[in-house]
Amino acid sequence: MARLLVTGGAGFIGANFVHYWLRRHPGDRVVVLDSLTYAGNMASLAPAEGNPHYRFVHGDIGDQPLVEQLLSEEGLDTIVNFAAESHVDRSIAGPDPFIDTNIVGTHNLLKAAKAIWLDGSGKGQPHRFHHVSTDEVYGSLSPDEPPFSETTPYAPNSPYSASKAASDHLVRSYHHTYGLAVTTSNCSNNYGPYQFPEKLIPLVLINILHGKPLPIYGDGLNIRDWLYVDDHCRGIDLILEKGKTGEVYNIGGNNEWTNIDIVTHLCGLMDEMVGADAALAARFPHTPAATGKRSDSLITYVRDRAGHDRRYAIDAAKSRAELGYEPAESFQTGIRKTVAWYLANEPWWRAVLDGSYHREWLAQQYGGGEKE
Ligand code: NAD
Ligand code: DAU
Repeated sequence: MARLLVTGGAGFIGANFVHYWLRRHPGDRVVVLDSLTYAGNMASLAPAEGNPHYRFVHGDIGDQPLVEQLLSEEGLDTIVNFAAESHVDRSIAGPDPFIDTNIVGTHNLLKAAKAIWLDGSGKGQPHRFHHVSTDEVYGSLSPDEPPFSETTPYAPNSPYSASKAASDHLVRSYHHTYGLAVTTSNCSNNYGPYQFPEKLIPLVLINILHGKPLPIYGDGLNIRDWLYVDDHCRGIDLILEKGKTGEVYNIGGNNEWTNIDIVTHLCGLMDEMVGADAALAARFPHTPAATGKRSDSLITYVRDRAGHDRRYAIDAAKSRAELGYEPAESFQTGIRKTVAWYLANEPWWRAVLDGSYHREWLAQQYGGGEKE
């Protein structure tokens, strides 16, 4: 039975991972540590509430004494570190929180793990520090370059990817220097339930429902490799089970799309679903298909993202060979599940849009404003 600390578990991938883990490993202990930034959402963890194997702790990965206390009092043997500032556009507008959490926060988490598992009361106990990273650390590919492998040199281009690259190096160094049992995964773009609607896919879905413009950065020909979030969670599970410590594993979808193709595909899918369902058309009267129009009429080219990476693609051959990793979901099935989830969970994204999503939880916990 594993005993996990899942940092950033109230975010998009972290919450999906918590639900995945409680489903797949029902006897395991899952402690979530999350500071509830704008990206953290307690509603995303609601399905876990009441499960006696699950506990939520509101706190920061940079708080080393808190992490040490949790590792000790809960007898935790595994950390899966999702906690991060994750949005590239925000890192361009203001890099500081990216440095604080992704670099300094991850380093404090490493120090806590070392203090308890290598130097302290848990000395000698089997443990694992798994660090969740991104394909963006490898930089940008030209159209005919081979996909990123684990040996592709790092060349991060945004403050976000540079901060993730720094954290990856720190994780590596704690293995090499101190013998901490670490693994790292570098994954491509995820999509699925609970994704904050600043990211391309949920933003486009929700804008289509409201008949709002669909902003395409630059010429729309940038390429991303899309993966359904549950496949990422399964990849991490396989790394925890079979991965070798000190190793890095790439996880990807083998599913490259230009941005304009993906947005056009989403427009077609939404038009088809709304066209086939009068109740949906009545629920979302501003969506173009409700009045016989096409959603792709909403596509609007806007100024490009500064330093916008042209193409990401993952070569997951090592994960396939060593872990038996293969995405289970095709893009066609994954995107339909995602659209169905957003349609069935309107209160979740409405609360995000109107800003009430963790105000209510914080008020309940702390009787008013945010925790100091
Ligand atoms: P997210 O922004 O949705 O969630 C991040 C979570 O971390 C939030 O719940 C937030 O409250 C929490 N957090 C932030 N700072 C914290 C701190 N100092 N202490 C504790 N908690 C903190 O992010 P996501 O999209 O779920 O990404 C999770 C991880 O996966 C990140 O490390 C990201 O770099 C990586 N990743 C994301 C993708 C993707 O497509 N979204 C792809 C590859 C890798
Ligand atoms: O590749 C993995 C990375 O994927 C993760 O490490 C990041 O945490 C995650 O945010 C994601 O980064 P991207 O920058 O690729 O994702 P985003 O959804 O912001 O953008 C996807 C593409 O769509 C990118 O080329 C920019 C473009 N875009 C995005 C938005 C929000 C638009 O054209 N219009 C938009 O409004």
